Amino acid sequence: MSTSRTSIFFAGATGYIGGSVLYRLLQHPSAKTFDITVLVRSQEKAKKLESFGVKTAIGSLDDHALVEELASKAHVTFNTADSDNVEAIRAILRGAQKRHATVGDLPIYIHTSGTAELADSDALGNKTTDVIWDDTNVEQVESIPDAAFHRNVSLEVIAADKAGYVKSYIILPSTIYGRVKSPLVDAGIQNPQSIQIPYLIKAALGRKQAGMVGKGVALWADVSNDDIADLYIALYDAIAANPDKVGHGIEGYYYGENGEHTWYSISRAIGEALVGLGVSKDPEPTSFTDDELIKYYGSLMFGNFNGTNARCRANRGRSIGWKPKYTTQDMLASIKAEVEAISKQ
Ligand SMILES: *[C@@H]1O[C@H](CO)[C@@H](O)[C@H](O)[C@H]1NC(C)=O
Ligand SMILES: *[C@@H]1O[C@H](CO)[C@@H](O)[C@H](O)[C@H]1NC(C)=O
Ligand SMILES: *[C@@H]1O[C@H](CO)[C@@H](O)[C@H](O)[C@H]1NC(C)=O
Repeated sequence: MSTSRTSIFFAGATGYIGGSVLYRLLQHPSAKTFDITVLVRSQEKAKKLESFGVKTAIGSLDDHALVEELASKAHVTFNTADSDNVEAIRAILRGAQKRHATVGDLPIYIHTSGTAELADSDALGNKTTDVIWDDTNVEQVESIPDAAFHRNVSLEVIAADKAGYVKSYIILPSTIYGRVKSPLVDAGIQNPQSIQIPYLIKAALGRKQAGMVGKGVALWADVSNDDIADLYIALYDAIAANPDKVGHGIEGYYYGENGEHTWYSISRAIGEALVGLGVSKDPEPTSFTDDELIKYYGSLMFGNFNGTNARCRANRGRSIGWKPKYTTQDMLASIKAEVEAISKQ
């Protein structure tokens, strides 16, 4: 085993995904050889993070000079934070470029997007699609429209890889679920809760009846928080073991998926939990009106997003040894506890 040290810059540690990834790095068999620096906004959380053995830099992704400097000092950058913050991502890439020019290594950038990149726009809950996105099909990955969610940022990340000063890898989680239980949550560092299904739960609580876009027949993929965090580590391990065997750049799209569901099935599970709590009498979801979509999601576009299809297969992650454990059944079973927790908030 190599005894050389690995410098890691980590952004997003307080987040739902990032905290789970960071915790795995702290538990990693090679953890003793990692020098991890975490970007964090709050002094208080910085102190707590340091007690877990990482260095911290106080600031946000909007402190571009700091982000650039931290990226230039790291062989590996994990960014699990905002996948649309293009200026921050440009700062990371400038840092990598500077490092390549001065230190001379080829830095690794692990970026986070989402399978919203794959969503269609005309389903409105009433159509299922036959289109299944396969992350090992490079031609298909190239065909993702420039105007798709997050895609403009992903294209810049891919272009940087092509320019040759960084190796980039993009992880695209689908619907992530499960409340996180971990020491980072107990310490008040990590947000344990997703925003995705909870959004639908909040709308359902607001209207006292589960809701869906149209008939809810469109399909999305799903992945547990545990499994998606494992994907970052499987990717890191594969790169560390043999970088030449691991796709990067345009060959570095990694969907996070271990099953798929209709929107109806999520809403029906929410409805059953609401009946259990005595909030509704009928577990059957009804279609949101346009006014409700605007009320609960801020706009029709965002609301109708919950009626899109985004079907995919995580073939690339599986090919490098990722073994997701939880399935769509686990997701549906997790909803009751989620509804109970949110109804108390
Ligand atoms: C990327 O696209 C989003 C819409 O999907 C837009 O809001 C954002 O301004 C775009 N960013 C850049 C840098 O083009
Ligand atoms: C539903 O749409 C909202 C707004 O676009 C989004 O934030 C949320 O994550 C979506 N829900 C799921 C389960 O993907
Ligand atoms: C979706 O289907 C429902 C139920 O048949 C219908 O009321 C609604 O108008 C449809 N929505 C669209 C956008 O076609």
